[in-house]
Amino acid sequence: AESLRVGVAGLGTVGASVVRVLSEKADAIAARAGRPVMVTAVSARDKGRDRGLKLDGVAWHMDPSQLARSNDVDLVVELIGGANGAARACVETAIERGRPVVTANKALLAKHGVAIAKAAEKAGVAVGFEAAVAGGVPVVKTLREALAGNDVSRVFGILNGTCNYILTRMERDRIGFAECLAEAQRLGYAEADPTFDVGGFDAAHKLALLTTLAFGVETDADGIYVEGITSITPFDLQMAEELGYRVKLLGVTTRGEGGIEQRVHPSMLPKDSAIARVDGVTNAVEIDGDVVGALVLAGPGAGGDATASAVIADIVDIARGVRRPVFGIPAEQLAAPKRAPMQTHQGGYYIR
Ligand code: HSE
Repeated sequence: AESLRVGVAGLGTVGASVVRVLSEKADAIAARAGRPVMVTAVSARDKGRDRGLKLDGVAWHMDPSQLARSNDVDLVVELIGGANGAARACVETAIERGRPVVTANKALLAKHGVAIAKAAEKAGVAVGFEAAVAGGVPVVKTLREALAGNDVSRVFGILNGTCNYILTRMERDRIGFAECLAEAQRLGYAEADPTFDVGGFDAAHKLALLTTLAFGVETDADGIYVEGITSITPFDLQMAEELGYRVKLLGVTTRGEGGIEQRVHPSMLPKDSAIARVDGVTNAVEIDGDVVGALVLAGPGAGGDATASAVIADIVDIARGVRRPVFGIPAEQLAAPKRAPMQTHQGGYYIR
């Protein structure tokens, strides 16, 4: 069968992993995809940097939109990041050209995901974003596909690997905040601007996408209460521990009588609960569905290979011709989100 020619825009931690795994596992991936999948073009600013990749014969574009427009590419993988600028232009250009897109860009989708989904569905092209939420944990497919028969009432969990890594190390090893963050950056977990991680904004972007998938409403990132972990100290964690709790940065979205409530903030969890026990860069999400009951997914939430795993799954789906509405139901049919008044306020939030 004809090869699927992939263009990868953005060669940071995740982009480099995607290129490497697609090449190292080419045969196994071709079997799953039903045809060879090959990287034919890449885009990144710094051509000189050694990323340990073999890129002979691969076209190099300085401008990601030029890659999206190029005739050597059937599918565009956007791993640039950022809600606007080059990433948005690249995705919009690909869709205009009738090319499917796979992206890990939660900031872009939290802000413009509904408009992008409408354009893609009109053009008849797929947009995959499994990698945008919880890294390697397949929470997008779970909500969109595996739980299609459920009414979901709540989704909550640990959505930022960097924050969970920092909290875990602060608690266990009594290391200060700044040192933990530097380590998370070194390990390739943090966003280019780590304020997004520690300020809770990255978790909020992911939560906005989970809300849309779970409740069939348009994304409402501005309606999220956001508080990060920057004022948490090892002493806070020690005190919580003595009271029988662990502190986690949670994203919580609930649908009730009054509407939808979305919140991101440090929370106390009973020490022995499933989510409280999750350590390090691991993400964990609980989904409460009316038919299935409570489901918990956990796994690596950040890092090059974990996130590449999700990117590649979306590429394989598209190679197989899978083309679902981006958020599970057609974007035209997503309802306007109704915000519920906040039930509780900052500090000491407790979740059962
Ligand atoms: N910086 C993010 C995290 C990467 O730490 O979870 C995955 O989106």
